[in-house]
Amino acid sequence: MDRYAVFGNPIGHSKSPFIHNQFAAALGEKLQYDAILAPLDGFADNWHSFVAAGGKGGNVTVPFKEAAYQLAEALSGRAQQAGAVNTLYIDSKGKLCGDNTDGIGLVADLQRLGVNLQGITVLLLGAGGASRGAIGPLLDAGVKQLVLANRTVSKAQAIAANFDPCVSACGYADIPLQPYQLVINATSSGLSGERPLIAAQHLQHCQLAYDMLYGAAPTPFLHWAKEQGVPLQADGLGMLVAQAAEAFYIWRGKRPDVTPVLALLQQQLQAV
Ligand code: ATR
Repeated sequence: MDRYAVFGNPIGHSKSPFIHNQFAAALGEKLQYDAILAPLDGFADNWHSFVAAGGKGGNVTVPFKEAAYQLAEALSGRAQQAGAVNTLYIDSKGKLCGDNTDGIGLVADLQRLGVNLQGITVLLLGAGGASRGAIGPLLDAGVKQLVLANRTVSKAQAIAANFDPCVSACGYADIPLQPYQLVINATSSGLSGERPLIAAQHLQHCQLAYDMLYGAAPTPFLHWAKEQGVPLQADGLGMLVAQAAEAFYIWRGKRPDVTPVLALLQQQLQAV
């Protein structure tokens, strides 16, 4: 049976095995998908052992996305843009290839939510790996202009420099006053019970507030956006399932339906 796995540290709470096993069952694909706890200094060795034991492909999560980027012998354009790899596979010539499906997972989730990205202006908060991987796919999907705001301005500037001229960088206090139809929180602020401290006026024209984090309760950013009257809020659970679906497609050439798996995960989160 073909073997796949997600590599991370920690990895115990990963939802990827559940998601991929659901996809495989729905599509009648015979495969095994495990979660592997890789040592912090031993991702490459761990991956090579997995391949030697018959591993065909992998997902990579925190903190190994940059290590996977270094390890891959060939990189997709979107992995290069993101500077990180979340999906590994071995091509027909035996070459180890690295891709990144996080950004297209976000775009797919926004489309599932009914957002028309064509020609809109997006405010993207945060300048870490999550944000960097999202910009190229958002622009490819038709976003006209993107303002990248971060607490530490220099990090936003360094990323924006790769995407001139339709991406600009700023701090939270000097976000340009213009209508943003979509505001995305790609910071990890929710993990510490906080939200990015932007002014409420930037949400005035926002149709959807999106947080890449997810949990049983709305994140502080989504809670605040609702209070400000933003009509729709969505967390990153849909993005998680959608990036997995894109990885599954790369490996198996079949597109899973994300909807039933997302519904099951939402139920699981509510039951906790
Ligand atoms: P990831 O790879 O998940 O994007 P990261 O590279 O550690 O994670 O980046 C975390 C992001 O969240 C950064 O943009 C960080 O802002 P700084 O660059 O100023 O550190 C942002 N962040 C974390 N906690 C935050 C908070 N409480 N308020 C605002 N931004 C926060």
